[in-house]
Amino acid sequence: MIDDPAKELPRPIGPVISLTDAEREALDEEFGRLGRSLHSLPLDDEGFLTEAEFAGTRLPGHLLRELRRFRRQGNSAGALIIRNVPVDPVLPATPLGGRLESWGELPVATVTQLAVTSQIGDVIAYADEKEGALIQEVVPIKGAEKLQENSGTVYLELHTENGFHPHKPDFVTLVCLRPDHARTSYTVVGAAAEMLPALSGHCVEVLRKPSYRLHASSSFGAGKQGLRTGPVAVLSGPDHSPEFLADFHAMEPLTDEAMTAFSELKNALLATIRGARLAAGDLLVIDNRAAVHGRTSFAARYDATDRWLRRCFAVSDIRRSRGARPAGSRVCAPLATIGLAAFPGDLPGPGISDRVEGAACSNS
Ligand SMILES: [Fe+2]
Repeated sequence: MIDDPAKELPRPIGPVISLTDAEREALDEEFGRLGRSLHSLPLDDEGFLTEAEFAGTRLPGHLLRELRRFRRQGNSAGALIIRNVPVDPVLPATPLGGRLESWGELPVATVTQLAVTSQIGDVIAYADEKEGALIQEVVPIKGAEKLQENSGTVYLELHTENGFHPHKPDFVTLVCLRPDHARTSYTVVGAAAEMLPALSGHCVEVLRKPSYRLHASSSFGAGKQGLRTGPVAVLSGPDHSPEFLADFHAMEPLTDEAMTAFSELKNALLATIRGARLAAGDLLVIDNRAAVHGRTSFAARYDATDRWLRRCFAVSDIRRSRGARPAGSRVCAPLATIGLAAFPGDLPGPGISDRVEGAACSNS
């Protein structure tokens, strides 16, 4: 397991794009009006999503340029932060059970997140997870403290988001509504571009072999089924800009050399990791193809004022997943019906596969 990077202060995540107060106020009014007028629609209503996407075209030009550049080219940090985005001035209680009754309780934050996310991709969700919600509440849940899930409070190991899924997100956005009480928890990001120079040539060679398996997340309701992928590689694609797939909780090296390379990878990530203490009004965008992420530990009170982030996923091309989604829906059908990930460079593998021993793995 990778160590908790909170022991040492990580380098900051950048670039940071800050909205001016005037920009935020203008968006707040417009997004709030849109959210309140359409609050009776389900979040995955295509008409609402189109309106939210269109609202995103009215984001300030300096932000749109950065988002579109990031969508096409990424950056060396594998992430960017937008500060001072509009969120609702009066927040409901942090949902103790991890579920908000209606997105209409947060019209501004909801439209803000959809508007930004839809500028970098097509919003997507997964029926297995959080009831297929397009925006998910990331909050601590009592009793889940030690789980490797977004509901836990222990150090959340670095991971690719839903890396086991055949239509895993290309991008993850996180909007912070409330930080942890002590404001000490870092959301951390480890980028391939910054980690690679620290790896030996032999290590890269091994990481490019399909010598790893990913266990499906328990938050996907897959725990009891023990689903895991066929053999996959950690690195694939061009040397100068590889795809990066890793999970220090749910990935299983299949050979001794794969284990050794995974350990070297861990050290390289620790040496280059970046982190941010997200504050209310911060929006973090992660390139899930080129970076892994995690979170350092924090203390929860379970008193309705706990840390509260909201998460949304996007893919570059929603059409690729059409066979996995009901017609007209952004929500991928349960894994049990569509199978697990197949990756370039895979050996012929069992796909939706063998039972595995031990506890299921999860992340968020
Ligand atoms: Fe995650």
